[in-house]
Amino acid sequence: MTPMTPLPYRVIAKRAETADTVTLTLSPVSAAIPEPEPGQFTMMYAFGIGEVPISVSRTRPVLEQTIRAVGAVTEALCGMEAGQVIGLRGPFGIGWDIDEARGRDLVLAAGGIGLAPLRPAVLRALSQRDAYGRIAVLVGTRTPDDLLFEEELGEWRARGAQVEVTVDRPGPGWAGHVGLITNLVGSADVDPSEAGAYLCGPEIMMRLTAQALVGRGMHAGRVRLSLERNMRCGIGWCGHCQLGSLLICRDGPVMPYEHAAALMTVKEL
Ligand SMILES: Cc1cc2nc3c(=O)[nH]c(=O)nc-3n(C[C@H](O)[C@H](O)[C@H](O)COP(=O)(O)OP(=O)(O)OC[C@H]3O[C@@H](n4cnc5c(N)ncnc54)[C@H](O)[C@@H]3O)c2cc1C
Ligand code: FES
Repeated sequence: MTPMTPLPYRVIAKRAETADTVTLTLSPVSAAIPEPEPGQFTMMYAFGIGEVPISVSRTRPVLEQTIRAVGAVTEALCGMEAGQVIGLRGPFGIGWDIDEARGRDLVLAAGGIGLAPLRPAVLRALSQRDAYGRIAVLVGTRTPDDLLFEEELGEWRARGAQVEVTVDRPGPGWAGHVGLITNLVGSADVDPSEAGAYLCGPEIMMRLTAQALVGRGMHAGRVRLSLERNMRCGIGWCGHCQLGSLLICRDGPVMPYEHAAALMTVKEL
């Protein structure tokens, strides 16, 4: 058995999150991968079609992964039904490491599908509520229909998180925030001088949010974000995910903003 050998996992439940995004609950057919850390990813293999990196969206008590259909492999994974079997390798990469921020406030900011990789970090922080200060979850989506884990957000609020959602285009009946996620940064009820921030979404969203947080007094080294690049091996062998001197599968995907800023394809404004 090598890190390149996928282990068979059965889809035991499937939940539609939005029109193009599903969450699969997965259970090992026999041998299991080690429990992932929040922010890590697995290589998910749709047999006969291909393999793609997908972050874990829940690590315990069950493994969940949330997938947006954008191409052949993700469409095949989103088309899986309960009972079907996929292949899984991993977990790979460096995660959020929110343990490092114990005792301090947290800001978790997500754009679109970026809420999926951040969800295990939110759940970890809420399960250890006394270990952290205030927790602000900021979410931006294109429309209200694109919001992930909508039913769970109320539960996060009930467990002590501030959860703010903003949309680019409100539909009828939307009474929440409208506009860029950066507009929410000022409303995050945290002490920026000591908080840790965790960002996931399109690069332009992460860059602008990081800039807004630093503008509020946060240290750039305490802002972490997750970079995405096309991957093949997931374990630092093939060079497919090379970015500068880094391999994103091995040295990321999560890294401090102060290191990532120079690597992002969306340059400083
Ligand atoms: C570390 C990591 C974690 C990820 N986590 C998730 C996740 O939790 N949920 C999820 O839905 N997706 C996630 N992705 C993105 C996912 O891997 C891609 O959507 C997938 O590889 C697309 O493969 P495909 O064969 O379906 O489509 P393709 O035909 O390969 O691509 C379809 C379109 O998506 C673009 N694309 C392909 N790969 C990427 C990529 N890595 N980043 C940005 N654009 C890409 C292509 O340029 C093309 O426009 C993650 C990617 C990485 C690197
Ligand atoms: S995907 Fe092969 S080195 Fe990163």
